[in-house]
Amino acid sequence: MDVIFPVLHGPYGEDGSMQGLLKIFNVPFVGPGVLGSALGMDKDVMKRLFMEAGIPIGKFITLRNGEKINFTKIKKELGLPIFIKPANMGSSVGISKVKNEKKYIKAVKEAFKFDSKIILEANIAGREIECSVLGNERPMTSIPGEIIANQEFYSYNAKYIDEGSVAEIPAKLDKKTTRKVQELAIKVFKVLNCEGMGRVDFFVKKNREVIVNEINTIPGFTKISMYPKLWEASGIPLPKLLDTLILLAIERFERELK
Ligand SMILES: Nc1ncnc2c1ncn2[C@@H]1O[C@H](COP(=O)(O)OP(=O)(O)O)[C@@H](O)[C@H]1O
Ligand SMILES: [Mg+2]
Repeated sequence: MDVIFPVLHGPYGEDGSMQGLLKIFNVPFVGPGVLGSALGMDKDVMKRLFMEAGIPIGKFITLRNGEKINFTKIKKELGLPIFIKPANMGSSVGISKVKNEKKYIKAVKEAFKFDSKIILEANIAGREIECSVLGNERPMTSIPGEIIANQEFYSYNAKYIDEGSVAEIPAKLDKKTTRKVQELAIKVFKVLNCEGMGRVDFFVKKNREVIVNEINTIPGFTKISMYPKLWEASGIPLPKLLDTLILLAIERFERELK
């Protein structure tokens, strides 16, 4: 095997486990290593590193198994609605958007089914903008795109089942906001020790404030996926993108051997 291209989502595939196994097997692989993958997976740790680096994020609270916070207090701190998510998951699995106490209690239970740590987030009213990153030490960014979900939020159903959501490429943003998104995408990629590839997801508010939501270190690669589509629109068609990712994997592997 020359290179492994893990096109896997979620725990074990994207969180550093598979990457650790591949390192032990001594095979080059595409995408971030153990640390970058693990940091990109854990929404709680990721956000703490963003705060330390001055990367703009929304308000959030972390809860570990056994910890509780009552609805009145959370409502005061985060406002309504609240997003409740497992810290380590993806594909919108286990995520709820809630506005009342009954739903809040249910949502906390639901999120804890998937992880022993969950995060509660203030709702950010804004457009969903995504930007692709490619490279090792000198990463570059694509033009940004916009996801226009046709549901309450970009849920599992909106992502994979109901095909009504639309990707707008390039996103209709002014030059300054586009540059801001691209600069932050690079910063996120570097702060989280990422390599190879990553898709950084943002919210852009009405007043053009740019907030980082998360990174995906193994972005989707289907025919409708944003990561390859953004590169295609930025002048790197899929065959060239795949060649580049494979070369980056070999380059990193050889550098680490030294
Ligand atoms: N704080 C928030 N404010 C507004 N919408 C949110 C917020 N957090 C998540 N969402 C919505 O939920 C979707 C999934 O959340 P995200 O944090 O991206 O989880 P995942 O890793 O599962 O993709 C987002 O694409 C967005 O539509
Ligand atoms: Mg997401």
